[in-house]
Amino acid sequence: MGIFDGATDGIYRDKDVLDEDYQPDQVLEREDEIADYRDALLDVLFGRTPDNIFLYGKAGVGKTAVTNFVLGELRAEVETRDTADPIHISRVNCDSETTYSVIRELANGLLPATHSPYAAKGYSTSDLFDELYEQMERVGGTHLIVLDEVDHLSDPDALLYQLPRARANGYLNDARVGIIGISNNYTFRNTLSSKVKSTLMETEISFSTYDADELVSILEHRADLAFQPGVCEDSAITLCAAYAAKDDGSARQAIDLLRAAADAAWKADDPTITDAHVKDVRDDVDRGQLHDKISDQTTNAQRVLEAAARLQNKHGEPARTREIQESYQQLARSYGDPDPSTSLKFAQRHLDDLEMLGFVIKSEENRGKGGGRSYIWEVDMDLETVIDVREDIEQTNAA
Ligand SMILES: Nc1ncnc2c1ncn2[C@@H]1O[C@H](COP(=O)(O)OP(=O)(O)OP(=O)(O)O)[C@@H](O)[C@H]1O
Ligand SMILES: [Mg+2]
Repeated sequence: MGIFDGATDGIYRDKDVLDEDYQPDQVLEREDEIADYRDALLDVLFGRTPDNIFLYGKAGVGKTAVTNFVLGELRAEVETRDTADPIHISRVNCDSETTYSVIRELANGLLPATHSPYAAKGYSTSDLFDELYEQMERVGGTHLIVLDEVDHLSDPDALLYQLPRARANGYLNDARVGIIGISNNYTFRNTLSSKVKSTLMETEISFSTYDADELVSILEHRADLAFQPGVCEDSAITLCAAYAAKDDGSARQAIDLLRAAADAAWKADDPTITDAHVKDVRDDVDRGQLHDKISDQTTNAQRVLEAAARLQNKHGEPARTREIQESYQQLARSYGDPDPSTSLKFAQRHLDDLEMLGFVIKSEENRGKGGGRSYIWEVDMDLETVIDVREDIEQTNAA
């Protein structure tokens, strides 16, 4: 008898719907955000330039899912209308990118198949902008450019100033541009110049975290598609939703938990998915989540976090900004950065971002009269896990 003999698909009907890259055809619990999104893009149907849009919200709250859904609907509608300009959607993930590399990627994406791609070096940024505009004009229509993780761009002002003004500045005649910036860093907007802020944020859509009821409705819908009828107990769904709501309010986390619980049940040949399966897999899923959450941050932000976690672990109490900044420098050098930032402001800025994302808790230290202001930063996650996960990430990056 072979080792695979007798294996069955058991509880699953369509396991793919639990995958990270599955695009739900129904986005639930986001009616208001979808309505704002629609309004901002409405001009496209009438041959006019749409609003630029800035979406923000924590990880896993549906920014990508809603974007894909809305753009899919827009594309379908445009096809049914003669008066509408054709649309071209470009998606770029800005993680570790520069204005130069983003422009190049956009231009390459529009090139005809016979044209060889623009090389990674050898153009000035303004030459590349010209090439991009030429391709946009050639293709025509409305170009919707989705810049995911736009806060990771090393020089966002350059890109975000130029692109939305291309038409006003006479670089485009036929083609139109709409920018959709996505970020889970709300303080990012304050780092932009005021001109850029006002154009990029014509429409701002904020995505709040999901509460347990919203997560139950999202999970129920997925479970109906994923499993054979009656296989998934309601209480297992409620528990996944409750855990995820209590942690980050992330649908990704809730779905990950359900998938892991289902897999545990399936591998054990159990006929149903129960609370016990959810409880069993929770620690593993948490670690995976933490890994993703941390690796979503810029390398510098991660290292600042790691420095804070190591100090707190060693001393049994949270560290001050200056200590974290010094420890960050050592740490960055040990990871091969020859020239880490020595500025206190740099550490402060990253720590403020990390606070906003819920990684650390900031409090003011009382140093008595004339003592000046000083902050302490408590890492609000399991310290050993953070350090472990960070070592993993650096090792993977070095490999
Ligand atoms: N309202 C929803 N209805 C159905 N599925 C959802 C909804 N919101 C999120 N999801 C699902 O949850 C997962 C995470 O959502 P999504 O990728 O859209 O999050 P995000 O806000 O883009 O996160 P990140 O900031 O990490 O990119 C995806 O699998 C998505 O399909
Ligand atoms: Mg996303």
